[in-house]
Amino acid sequence: MEKWWQKSFGYQIYIRSFKDSNNDGIGDIQGIIEKLDYLSYLGVNLIWICPFFASPMDDNGYDVSDFYNVSPDYGSLNDIKELILKAHEKGIRIIIDLIMNQTSDEHYWFKESRKSKDNPYRDYYIWAPPRYSNGQRKEPTNWASFFGGSCWEYDELTGEYYMKIFSKKMPDLNWKNPQVRNEIAKVAEFWLDLGIDGFRIDAVAHIGKSEFIDSTITPDEKYKPEWEKYSNLPIVHDYLREMYEKVFSKYDIMTVGEVGGRALISDALLYVTPNRHELNMVFNFDHNWCNNGWNRQKGEKLVINVPHMKSIFDKWQTGLQGKAWNAIYWLNHDQPRLLSHYGDSRYPQESAKMLAICLYFMWGTPFIYNGEEIGMTNPHFKSIDDFKDVSIHTQYKINVLENHQDIEDFIYQVSYSTRDNARTPMQWSGEEYGGFSKSRPWNILCDNYQKINVENEIEDQDSILNFYRKVIAIRLNSGYNDVIAFGKYQQIKKDHLKLYAYLRIGSTKKILVLCNLTSCEFNLDELEYRVINIILSNYDRKEVPKTFAPFEAIVLEVE
Ligand code: GLC
Ligand code: CA
Repeated sequence: MEKWWQKSFGYQIYIRSFKDSNNDGIGDIQGIIEKLDYLSYLGVNLIWICPFFASPMDDNGYDVSDFYNVSPDYGSLNDIKELILKAHEKGIRIIIDLIMNQTSDEHYWFKESRKSKDNPYRDYYIWAPPRYSNGQRKEPTNWASFFGGSCWEYDELTGEYYMKIFSKKMPDLNWKNPQVRNEIAKVAEFWLDLGIDGFRIDAVAHIGKSEFIDSTITPDEKYKPEWEKYSNLPIVHDYLREMYEKVFSKYDIMTVGEVGGRALISDALLYVTPNRHELNMVFNFDHNWCNNGWNRQKGEKLVINVPHMKSIFDKWQTGLQGKAWNAIYWLNHDQPRLLSHYGDSRYPQESAKMLAICLYFMWGTPFIYNGEEIGMTNPHFKSIDDFKDVSIHTQYKINVLENHQDIEDFIYQVSYSTRDNARTPMQWSGEEYGGFSKSRPWNILCDNYQKINVENEIEDQDSILNFYRKVIAIRLNSGYNDVIAFGKYQQIKKDHLKLYAYLRIGSTKKILVLCNLTSCEFNLDELEYRVINIILSNYDRKEVPKTFAPFEAIVLEVE
């Protein structure tokens, strides 16, 4: 049976940076309500809103201090109710983050848990005694945290460590404890009863942890980033099946789990094979690492590793097809901006439109990240104060303050990887602060906002924004919607070093997508398919070109 989310086009909203309605410099719920018309104009019918719960904002809301309340930064529970109502009136469904791995250290449960070893909440979190070697206190294991340093934090009060795989203000919940599982189920139920349509399940891969056995380290390592110690362990599936049985199965919702970087197809299938009753789809990260951006030397040009990117897409498309459902996205609030990552500043229009074609004709529920549709870029970071991301400040403390890394080198190195890249304010217009707010925004703004903004792009028929509108309209509302949603994916010309080409084969229609992932031209060999129609072209072609231009992409109906 067809599900509503199989024909949805998602749009992720990083609430803090989307639209500020009361001019305090912080995006908010009323800001989203103001922009619902824009979302309808764009054509999406599903939004994912990043956390808006009560929080001290150490990690911009992924550190929750009260799951049942809204942060005053963002508004109130009534604002959320209004948003749900108004979005639904426009045919836009809403999913929100369900944060299961951790809470804030300012959550009531943790405040209690810290107090004493026999506190009723002690076991809500993961506590372990120190180890001692030569009289020196040591963490219970030598495992690293995703944000830098150890995944353990010492708490003087009871003389034990608590686990925190993210920041020290984000203690991990103990999923072994059935009370914790019940509490989170209650949270999920609360939001579903309020009318939301599902969840993006944050960091779900990490809710199960291994036995506390040290990782093997080299002499120059202190903590080992051996994420396997707490990623995609078999027990996670037991926990999810319990959540499904208790909560998810009772509603007509969608669930998409964030399963991190190392998940294999075989892991993904465990999460999403329908008769296992866990999740509907997962976000993997593999396609985020298909260029030299993450470890580039100064001055080195960015290049896509085309064979690698093609093989990653092929792996996830064919690996799940016919067995489960897929989610597709280019970036989220943790990744560089798409144009700065896989686009080309010499061909911003062409490359951005090619990337849209490349991904959004594939199989799976798509998610755009706010600002992607207008071609927003990474900002320019000048000093450490320009960074807001807690993980950068943790690394800064260790690398620069403690280990004396050159500050210029540090800034160069993290400018690409920092999650701040995707978190600059949405560029609505050329006005001061990009029309995001009338006061100075909480985060730095990209200095290209006078050129790259929604207002300009609505005017310009050839803009990236108007191109995204076409892509979305074709995907959702054209005669091709069935073949795009359900057609079989098949890659062709696999060995081509510049071209990425795939078919979508439906019961009555067949589509061929051709993308030049590079800035080089090349001649296209004779196609073995008869072209019936040009569905979309980023060079506005009226016939299939013999020579493919830089970043050219074309979508054809063929037989
Ligand atoms: C996920 C979120 C990220 C957050 C982390 C901890 O990876 O996407 O932003 O910091 O989980 O909740
Ligand atoms: Ca505000």
